[in-house]
Amino acid sequence: MNETLTDIRERRSCRKYTDEPVNRQDLEKVLEAGTFAPTGHGTQSPRMVVVTDKDQMKELSALNERVWGKPVDPFYGAPVAVFVMADKEAPTGMQDACLVMGNLMLAAHAIGLGSCWINRGKEMFELPEGCAIMERWGIDPTRYVGLGICILGHPAEGGISHAKPRKNDYILYA
Ligand SMILES: Cc1cc2nc3c(=O)[nH]c(=O)nc-3n(C[C@H](O)[C@H](O)[C@H](O)COP(=O)(O)O)c2cc1C
Repeated sequence: MNETLTDIRERRSCRKYTDEPVNRQDLEKVLEAGTFAPTGHGTQSPRMVVVTDKDQMKELSALNERVWGKPVDPFYGAPVAVFVMADKEAPTGMQDACLVMGNLMLAAHAIGLGSCWINRGKEMFELPEGCAIMERWGIDPTRYVGLGICILGHPAEGGISHAKPRKNDYILYA
C-alpha cells in the first residue's frame, strides 16, 4: 500500500512514553509538517508553541489536570507538548488549527514517534493562569484559543492500543 495511506491507517494515540528525549531534528520534521497543513486562503493562521522544558511541562500539565479534574498526568509523561493555538480572527481559524494537529500526529508516526491529541487546551488558556502563560509566550490571549495539545515522544511498551473497527455507517454514498 502507498506509504502515506499506511501511515494514516497505522497511526494510533500513544499514552506511555520512554524517558528518551525527542531529538531536535525529528522535532523539527514534525513541526514543519504542521506548518504545511492547508489553511483557509493560505493564511497559516495557527501558532504552535513547543514545550520541552520540564518545569514548564509540569506547570502546564497541572493546569490541564485542574481543568480535567482527575489526578492523572494528562500528558502521560511525554517529553514534548506542542500547543496549537487557533486564531479567532481568522475565518477558518479552528479548522486550520485542527489540520495542523492532524499533520503533527501523522508526521510523528511517519518517523517512529508516538503522539496523542490532548484536550482542554481551550479551557486551560481561558483561566487567568493560562492567559498569563500565553502572554509570557508573546501570544495575545484575547485573539488565540488553545485548540489542542499534541504530545510527542518515544512510545513505551503498552502505550499504544489497537484501532477499533471502523463504523459500518461511517461512509454514506448519497
Ligand atoms: C479532539 C480530540 C481530543 C482528544 N483528547 C484526548 C485527551 O484529552 N486525552 C487522551 O488521552 N486522548 C485524547 N484524544 C485521543 C482520542 O482518544 C483517540 O484519538 C481515539 O481514542 C482514537 O484512537 P487512535 O488515536 O489511537 O486512533 C483526543 C482526540 C481528539 C481528536
